[in-house]
Order: sequence, then C-alpha cells, then structure tokens
Amino acid sequence: MRSMFAKSIVLCGMILSSQCLTQELVEENGFIFEEHLVTTSDNYILRLFRIPGMQEGNDLNSTEYNAIQNKPPVLLQHGLVDSADSWLAHVSSKAPGFVLARSGYDVWFGNSRGNKYSLGTHVDINQKDYWAFSFEQMGDLDLPAVIDYILQVTKQQKLAYMGHSQGTSQMYYALAENENYFADKVSVFIALGPVIRLDHAPSKVFQFVSSNENRKLLIDTCNNLGINSIFEANWLTTDSMRLICGAIPQICEYALEFATDKDPSLDDVSRLQVFFGHYPSGSSVRQIDHYAQIVEAKEFRRYDYGESGNMQKYNQTVPPLIDITKISRVPIAMFVGNQDEAADAVDNEWAKTQLKTLAFYQEYALGHSSFFVAKDFSFFTTDVMNVLEKFHPANLTEPLGEPKLISQNEAPINL
Ligand SMILES: *[C@@H]1O[C@H](CO)[C@@H](O)[C@H](O)[C@H]1NC(C)=O
Ligand SMILES: *[C@@H]1O[C@H](CO)[C@@H](O)[C@H](O)[C@H]1NC(C)=O
Ligand SMILES: *[C@@H]1O[C@H](CO)[C@@H](O)[C@H](O)[C@H]1NC(C)=O
Repeated sequence: MRSMFAKSIVLCGMILSSQCLTQELVEENGFIFEEHLVTTSDNYILRLFRIPGMQEGNDLNSTEYNAIQNKPPVLLQHGLVDSADSWLAHVSSKAPGFVLARSGYDVWFGNSRGNKYSLGTHVDINQKDYWAFSFEQMGDLDLPAVIDYILQVTKQQKLAYMGHSQGTSQMYYALAENENYFADKVSVFIALGPVIRLDHAPSKVFQFVSSNENRKLLIDTCNNLGINSIFEANWLTTDSMRLICGAIPQICEYALEFATDKDPSLDDVSRLQVFFGHYPSGSSVRQIDHYAQIVEAKEFRRYDYGESGNMQKYNQTVPPLIDITKISRVPIAMFVGNQDEAADAVDNEWAKTQLKTLAFYQEYALGHSSFFVAKDFSFFTTDVMNVLEKFHPANLTEPLGEPKLISQNEAPINL
C-alpha cells in the first residue's frame, strides 16, 4: 500500500472549493484539520479527513501529536452517494465529528471510492472499469487500506468503526466474508441507519429501481449514454444527470424526495440545508444496481452479474448470500430509525435476530438523514457515546459524565 500525507493547507488552493469549506468549517470550530491520501491495493486513491484534536495549545506536527496524545481512533464512513461532510453538517455541539473530537477521540473520516473527494486515481475515471464497484469493493479493498493506514499512523492496535447506510453495508459484508482480517483491528462496529436487507424499504426510488424492468431501463440508459457515475455533486446541473432525468424522470424526482426525510419535523431545517449544500457526492451506477437487486431479491446477496457471469465469478447461477450469521467476533451496535425510508425497522429487526455479536440495538424516531441533522441528537450524544465508552474508551482528562446503562431493553453481551 502506498500512502501520502499532506497538511491540507498546502493543497487547499489547488483543489475543489467545497473541500476547503470542510477544512474551514473544522478550523473555525477550533479544531485541527488534516487530509490524508490512501492508495488501495487496486490503485484507487481515497481522501481521508482527520480531526486529531483542538487547535488551542497545539503547535505540534502530526508525528509529535500522535506520540503525545495516544488517542483512540474512530473511523466514520458515510452512506450512499454521500461524503465525509455529513458528519460535520450539524451544529458544533451535535455533529458527530465534533462531539467525538471533544470527547478525546482521534476522528477519521472516510470517503468511498467514486465520491467527489476520492476521484483521484491511478486508474482512468473515464474508463467504465473504474466504476465497476459497489459496497463489495469498498469492503474488500477500501476498508482494509484505510483501516491499516489509520492504525499505522496512530500506532494504535484498534479503531472503532462507525458507518451510516452504505457505510454499514460494506462493513457487514466485510465481516461476513473476511472477519478474521478485521477482528483484531476493529473494537466495535457502530451501525447508524443499517442497510442489510431492503425488503421493506418504503423509499420510492428504491421501489422504482427494484422492478427488473426499471432496473434494466436505468442500466441500459446509462450504458447507451456512456454514463458510469450517478448523483454526483451538482447533479442537478450536470449533463449526464440531465440526460438520465430526461430519460427516466421518476429516478430524479424520487431521489430528491428520498433525501428529505418523510417526517421533516424530526430534523433541524437549517442544518438540513447545510447537509444538502454538500449532498449528494456521487457514486457508481453499479452501486445503485446492487441495492436494487437486494430490494428485488429480498436477500442480502453478492452482486448479480447474470447467470453466465455468476457462473464465472461464483461458480453458481445465483449470486451467493452474504451470510451475516457468520460474524462471531466484532461487537455490533445498531441504531435504527423508525422513520427511515431506506434502513427500515422491520428489516433491521430481522438482522437483529441473525447477529451473534449484537451488543446494542435501539429504534428511534429518526429518518435516514436524521442521523446527521436530527433535532433530538441524544441517540448520538448519549447512546453512541456510551457504547464507545464501553468498547473503545477515550483517555479523557475530563470524564464524559456518569456512566449509563448502554440500553434500556438490551443487556450488552460479554465479548
Ligand atoms: C515533527 O517534529 C519532529 C521534532 O521537531 C521532527 O523530528 C519531525 O521530523 C517532524 N515531522 C514532520 C512530519 O514534520
Ligand atoms: C463448482 O461447483 C461444482 C458443483 O457444485 C463443484 O463440483 C465444482 O468443484 C466447483 N468448481 C470450483 C472451481 O469451485
Ligand atoms: C492518557 O493521557 C495522559 C495525558 O495525556 C498520558 O500521560 C497517559 O499516558 C495516557 N494513558 C493512556 C493509557 O493512553
């Protein structure tokens, strides 16, 4: 794995202004902002953000800082067509990135392959092959590269992993397929708006693309137009999305509806606007296709290449199940929104019965975007922080407060 480190201030003049906004936002709130580039084993370059601590009293470089602080790292991994920015969209007292940094954690933010921050590549992004990924490649290739990099830089044994939506699918997949690789490196997997099966997802855009006919229409349209990426930043004005929205208007109409939670009164409207200022950030057509297949199959399955493609890839005509019952070592904490249009509570209640290492499960009055901008953010500031305190404690000079039971209805299992 090749990796590069650069204080972002050096790069800021040369890159997208939206990225500098993230840096400005972090620094204006009194924190240190860093940017790191990680190269995966298949040569995709991923851009990580990091908040190692507060600015005040620190004129140390990163190496000195790491040696002195010895803080436990947390990796935050965003969802579908999203980016690291979402973890910073809320007010400073609630945004997960800031809450964690203030609580003594070394906070790292992933950006999945193909999003606006991780388009740098040794592979040509105009090639169709570049976009041949879904959450499987993120689990197989992005996660190991990023996790190993963070542990190497911080000289820590383990990090806590927190995902939202697709950020959870890739870790469920990674643990089901390759848990031994991750078990010694990940202390706890915190899943916000977890997406495994999508049988009950009420989202119109998911329902629409899940019909074989509409899915074929979307894939054929994109193939014919030579379009491989979708819902990129500024999507309402890009030529490729204009073509897709012209050909299949429902996709674009329902996608807009999806991002606004079905009960918007749960969310802080002014912060939702900040969220939308940075969303969406792009992904592959293949990723949408994979989720559509999962909705249709009513199973959490590998990507479907068609019968002959599946024979070549999997030696069977149907793509294999991703078996989450195989996960046996990494504790998992699930935070489920009962107003979530993608990560439906019924599907997650099923997942709850399958997982051997479930350490926490709770449902909240939250939609899918609420996990970043909810008015009532106690699910995070109280419950997520208590789970972290139990499985991945920070070395705080000032304690967080009285330790609380991590859940009212679920006794944590001993691991
Ligand atoms: C950080 O500072 C130390 C001590 O001054 C120095 O040895 C080291 O090379 C510096 N590292 C970087 C990355 O600048
Ligand atoms: C493919 O599947 C068949 C039937 O299940 C099995 O006999 C064969 O060994 C498999 N081939 C490979 C390469 O795994
Ligand atoms: C906790 O932090 C203090 C002060 O920063 C440091 O001296 C100590 O070694 C740290 N302990 C652990 C276990 O990291």
